[in-house]
Amino acid sequence: MRAAPPPLAGGTPGPDALGPLLHTVLDALRAGAEQRGGPLPAGGPHTVARHIDALGTALPETGTGADEALTALVRTLAAGAADPAHPLCAAHLHTPPLALAAAADLAASALNPSMDSWDQAPAASALEALVTTALAAEVFPDAARPDALVTTGGTESNQLALLLARERHGPVRTVVGANAHHSFRRAAWLLGLPEPVVVPTPRGTIDPTALHDTLTTLTGPVLVAATAGTTDEGLIDPLPRLADTCAAHHAEFHVDAAYGGPLLFSRAHRHLLDGTARARTVTVDLHKLGWQPAAAGLLAVQEPTDLAALGHTADYLNADDDTEAGLPDLLGRSLRTTRRPDILKTAVTLRALGRTGLGALVDACMERAQELADLVEKAPGLDLRDRPVLTTVLFRPRDADDETVAAIRRTLLAEGRAVLGRAQADGRLWLKATLLNPHTTPGDLAQLITLAEGSTHR
Ligand SMILES: Cc1ncc(COP(=O)(O)O)c(C=O)c1O
Repeated sequence: MRAAPPPLAGGTPGPDALGPLLHTVLDALRAGAEQRGGPLPAGGPHTVARHIDALGTALPETGTGADEALTALVRTLAAGAADPAHPLCAAHLHTPPLALAAAADLAASALNPSMDSWDQAPAASALEALVTTALAAEVFPDAARPDALVTTGGTESNQLALLLARERHGPVRTVVGANAHHSFRRAAWLLGLPEPVVVPTPRGTIDPTALHDTLTTLTGPVLVAATAGTTDEGLIDPLPRLADTCAAHHAEFHVDAAYGGPLLFSRAHRHLLDGTARARTVTVDLHKLGWQPAAAGLLAVQEPTDLAALGHTADYLNADDDTEAGLPDLLGRSLRTTRRPDILKTAVTLRALGRTGLGALVDACMERAQELADLVEKAPGLDLRDRPVLTTVLFRPRDADDETVAAIRRTLLAEGRAVLGRAQADGRLWLKATLLNPHTTPGDLAQLITLAEGSTHR
């Protein structure tokens, strides 16, 4: 007798099939986290690779069954994770996802709507429209009909911004600060555009006078990309003055607020983004300072007509007669075809927490960064690069050379004690803490300082 196929996640039987499997997954997550016991596994790449090899063949002739496979793989992955929910895992813009967002993501996986045609995602596509309209209005409060596309993150959003500029103007020249994300260079390469012109940023942000000087030398269409939340230092370019400079030179203005964008939810801090709404396009990621599991990117556009350039027809997805008959045409909302309903987790988060709840999470992380900077300033053996603007704190052992700084970071990684990042600034290498965990306590920060100081003396 042939075995019945494994149960499906959807339909009315789906939840009953998922229930026991979820228990298995949750048990394995718990066991893996306990086994790890810290922010990342000790022992470095060889030890982790050995644990993965110990799983045996990835494609056995006869399967082991759902319980064994989920237990073995989820537990091994959790035991070997760099877990951003651990307060000492603070290297990158690598967010600890909210439990409610991860739970919503389960529903997205179970239902599996695909956002490339209405007949695969009736409610999910309408929900995406509702949420993206609301978020676009946060970015562009004075625009008549702002819109936002859902992306896989800042890289795709920046790429789309360049693509839309190219479609408006032809071979546009991108101008970025030396502090800009590397995705602009790749996007220009991918789109067949000239290499971006780089304005030096010796103080970490673009100087409007230097931008003016650069724009004076250029002819033809230009897109200036400023950053609200630089990757290395969490700095914000002087957006209002850069917007003025762009206007004076008839250059277009894009703001990469992949990191800083969610400050819009904070009453206390949203003023730091003043000037953003003068951009034509704005990149915002909710899988950084927005506590969403990846992916949760957005490209907000001030002029919805800009998106017409992405219009595309494939008869099986958006035939003209279907569109004329009233079926929403989704294909022009992305360069992808099959696309997850990433908006669901965001919709659940916005509704559950509201602007006030999200703003409080932003404020908590901003406060932690100030507290960490205070601790660094008080530590006799450490130097602070500068007071943090967002939630990134750069510090280094006093009088250490760059090799020592790099070695401290790698030692903490190898011992499984802390995940700190690294950044070049001021011609020197710094340790970088990017604080995105609203549960981090002053005691955790003190431990981070102790670890950094202790590693210096070994
Ligand atoms: C300022 C900035 N823009 C864009 C990106 C790219 O975002 P993603 O990794 O989501 O593609 C990053 C990533 O850290 C970033 O810091």
